[in-house]
Amino acid sequence: MVKRASILGTGSCLPKRLLTNADLEKMVETSDEWITTRTGIHTRRIAGKGEDNYLLAANAARKALQDAGTEPDEIDLIVVATMTPHMIMPSCACFVQAEIGADNAFAYDINAACTGYLYGLDLADKYICSREDMKILLIGSETLSARVNWKDRNTCILFGDGAGATVISSRGDGKGVYDSNLCSDGRLWHLLYMHGPKSLNPEIVQDGNDGSYIRMIGRDVFKHAVRAMEEAVQGLLDKNNLTIDDVDLMIPHQANVRILHKVMERLGVPEEKVYINVNKYGNTSAASIPVALDEANRQGLLNRGDLLLFCSFGGGFTWGSLLMHW
Ligand code: UT7
Repeated sequence: MVKRASILGTGSCLPKRLLTNADLEKMVETSDEWITTRTGIHTRRIAGKGEDNYLLAANAARKALQDAGTEPDEIDLIVVATMTPHMIMPSCACFVQAEIGADNAFAYDINAACTGYLYGLDLADKYICSREDMKILLIGSETLSARVNWKDRNTCILFGDGAGATVISSRGDGKGVYDSNLCSDGRLWHLLYMHGPKSLNPEIVQDGNDGSYIRMIGRDVFKHAVRAMEEAVQGLLDKNNLTIDDVDLMIPHQANVRILHKVMERLGVPEEKVYINVNKYGNTSAASIPVALDEANRQGLLNRGDLLLFCSFGGGFTWGSLLMHW
């Protein structure tokens, strides 16, 4: 029997500080009404002292380990999906390893922007297929507030911080990740990007690179996101001779409630089959799917054997869909 990656436990950690639309009204020319109707976002969490990316990630990891009944030293691999690591080097995953005492693990980060967690799930499945007893800690964690231009109303209203973690292994029953459909198009990078910190090499430092803010042509990203997620999901269902009616719960990347409603409408999936929490946390990039998954899990919405559908879209562009039996 082919061994597939199953999720044994979930956890999440959101920063304490709440940033409301009313708070944003005092920072940029915007209104609660505009933000609510255009995005569906009411609040987001903003990391403060003692809430660095790796600390949020480690807290989420501890909860996931507890949920899975797994000790830190049983973990073989830690992967953190992030585009806002604490440092460029070492990886966020190495900081998490030290923080939780996962002494037997090897650790590294991946960056596929908002699609990072799905890329990570696919990666974990490949490891499990080749070594079924492997235990993997897969985390999506971001502190986007440190990379947002708080004077740019086009972007600052959208993003939030947080971390979601999952403990992954095989249950030995052939169930778990079912199939995935991952895509990228690097030609469209300029519609959504963030420069890294400036190079220290004066020969290659460019004028006009004023730092590392997120920049986005929102309207274009919106159109691509709707079409790409719909196609990624429909293509995956068709390939497996499934229909949207076979799916028990859809857990999409939480970027904008209008994007989600359009994708749901095109796929013909009813609202009660979709987990949405973008209203509370905004867009937390790679953390959004594992945070939503943890909430759904803790609310008792997931039953063993349920068919879960994940889909995401983000900078790169990167996007994709993944089916998994819970
Ligand atoms: O995780 C994946 C990455 N990101 C996304 O998926 C985000 C995708 N894009 C979006 O969610 C939407 O495009 C936004 C929420 C960013 C913007 O909504 P929109 O309906 O596409 O608005 P728009 O960019 O077309 O702007 C409409 C108007 C503009 O004014 P004019 O040019 O019509 O006079 C903007 O200047 O709204 C203005 N505007 C705002 N007004 C009040 C833009 N941001 C704001 C704001 N408050 N915060």
